[in-house]
Amino acid sequence: MIPFNKPYLTGKETHYIYDAVSSGKISGNGIYTQKCQAFFEKEYGFKKVLLTTSCTDALEMCAMLANIGPGDEVIVPSFTFVSTAIAFVRQGAKIVFADSYSDNPNIDADKIESLITDKTKAIVPVHYAGVACDMGKIMALANKYNLLVIEDAAQAIDSFYIDENGHQKALGSIGHLAAFSFHETKNIIAGEGGMLAINDERFIHRAEIIWEKGTNRAEFFRGEVNKYGWVDTGSSFLPSEVIAAFLWAQIENIQDIQAKRKVLWETYRSHLKTPNIQLPTIPSYATNNAHMFYITARNLEHRTQLINALKEKGFHAVFHYISLHSSDYYQSKHDGRELANSDNFTDCLLRLPMFYELSVENVKSIADCINEF
Ligand SMILES: Cc1ncc(COP(=O)(O)O)c(C=O)c1O
Repeated sequence: MIPFNKPYLTGKETHYIYDAVSSGKISGNGIYTQKCQAFFEKEYGFKKVLLTTSCTDALEMCAMLANIGPGDEVIVPSFTFVSTAIAFVRQGAKIVFADSYSDNPNIDADKIESLITDKTKAIVPVHYAGVACDMGKIMALANKYNLLVIEDAAQAIDSFYIDENGHQKALGSIGHLAAFSFHETKNIIAGEGGMLAINDERFIHRAEIIWEKGTNRAEFFRGEVNKYGWVDTGSSFLPSEVIAAFLWAQIENIQDIQAKRKVLWETYRSHLKTPNIQLPTIPSYATNNAHMFYITARNLEHRTQLINALKEKGFHAVFHYISLHSSDYYQSKHDGRELANSDNFTDCLLRLPMFYELSVENVKSIADCINEF
């Protein structure tokens, strides 16, 4: 069976983990953590990066930093992973779910303004499949209504938004805050892992404190204060050096990983030739980081048949995201608006195998199977 995902190891992971362990500093915020953070800041232009134990944790940090509380509203696409909403629900916020475009699972930026009320605190665009949301429109709304933008960039490492002047801006560097995932299904991985990117300098000082259990320990380690203690709310969001050492091996290979994934993605696109499915659309303002190759079937039954046809030939294709507004947990809290495009992707979207060690020949066979079906 060709799996849907296979975590790729560059070969240097255990070497760097051994190095971290033998250095005697295994807890967080050591040399490997700082090397990873410095890389992301320099490469993608984030003002400050803090590694976290997951993207979910980074989103929780965002909700705390934004001081989200009961009575606040946060605009979130319904077609997303639970973590995008739960970080804000934990703080007591009401989630106002937004619909996707009809031809792209991302939040429809033209439908956001009608959802804004005087209780709205933040918009949380999710760059689905690593493809940019319309950040120009979203940032303009945020400026007009004085809202925070928190990018869920879980899938969006090394992907860019192209602004009206043709300048590429890394996803995660545009909103006030952003969260990334290094879960084993992502382009670069650490098993479980994530990072918070902070672009609005007002949040940097407090983010370090929230990261370190509400203490000013990071300042103490830099020698900026002579003792540390409890100064704010927080939790234990920083990963150990073992995780950071693993991630460093991946970072060293990011260009090779991205180049290979893009070849596979383009092979899918050029070999899939059937009017019965829709291929992904990449808007003119977005680049593609080849995080995922998905297709859209005609309806739920068509997708189920397609999954079975692929399975019979030994290919594991998977669907995901049940619209959050109709989830068991949230449907009674949702305001009843219909979100037809999100529901359509819930029924019809199918993700095809995509991982570094997949061969071009494998991709062609998967495409042939879909074309024949
Ligand atoms: C859009 C989105 N947000 C958040 C997450 C959560 O990431 P993590 O597993 O690192 O917590 C995921 C996970 O795949 C995701 O796809």
